[in-house]
Amino acid sequence: MQTLSDPHRLHQLVNQWRLAGERVAFVPTMGNLHDGHIELVHQARARADRVVASIFVNPMQFGAGEDLDAYPRTLDADKTRLFDAGCDLLFTPEVSLLYPAGLGQQTYVEVPGLSDLHCGASRPGHFRGVTTIVCKLFNLVQPDIACFGQKDYQQLAVIRAMVRDLNMPVEVIGIPTVREADGLAMSSRNGYLTKSERSLAPELKRTLDITAQAIPELGLEQRAELEQQAEQRLADRGFEPDFFRICQAHTLAPAQPGDTELVILAAAQLGRARLIDNLQVDLPH
Ligand code: PAJ
Repeated sequence: MQTLSDPHRLHQLVNQWRLAGERVAFVPTMGNLHDGHIELVHQARARADRVVASIFVNPMQFGAGEDLDAYPRTLDADKTRLFDAGCDLLFTPEVSLLYPAGLGQQTYVEVPGLSDLHCGASRPGHFRGVTTIVCKLFNLVQPDIACFGQKDYQQLAVIRAMVRDLNMPVEVIGIPTVREADGLAMSSRNGYLTKSERSLAPELKRTLDITAQAIPELGLEQRAELEQQAEQRLADRGFEPDFFRICQAHTLAPAQPGDTELVILAAAQLGRARLIDNLQVDLPH
């Protein structure tokens, strides 16, 4: 596995592969890799001749007062895991090379509407930062396919919208969430949890499961009550819920009676960690 930090050298190498007729898959990450990230690499490996991964803690997607400086950086361990998973090329750019004019002068890509909901409402500017860096990375790598986790459900929806709206020639593949044995979705931010918080953390997934079971029994007419009960359940257990919403799976708008493809989106603070999770629910037609 090669590691490159120079965007031009990355572009040249991937270009050689493409000219040789090889299919290129891309897995963008912010590092501190866990089994969820590695699953994306395995899925990329299964679908392409070459796998490119990136590690870049993207300052543009962090708000003031968020965890940009504290975000875990574990490059040596990450390289070993990527090598073992069959990654061909790791791209680790410097901030100054990707944002030469500084963040204030940076051209940006923004998906309207979707970027302002849910996590976007709680973290203004976050999805603009995500779509801008993913667009830049797509331009550099020019992959045939790119793998993203369903763990970040709204992020995946925003990226799909960007690719569609800007006619980017990339096939976006969503990969199911990889979880710990007790149900907690794997996340680099789980490392912020204390021991007692870590034992509480699976309650987020449990609350999603309980709500999903209740939807067919109570009906979407009771959506607001179900959401409120779930937030209360989380608050009673020591979380500070940010939102807990039963949504239409594609628009992420509030689910209405008659909708059959749903996703429950949840975000809650637990100690220093902002945890997010989601669960797709299909109701019979
Ligand atoms: P990061 O949080 O490092 O996640 C990188 C990729 O791994 C994302 O596609 C994310 O959805 C996926 N992922 C994270 N946890 C997962 C899990 N438990 N199971 C399956 N997939 C999981 O998301 C980002 O970085 C950034 O916003 C990025 C897209 C790289 C842009 O900077």
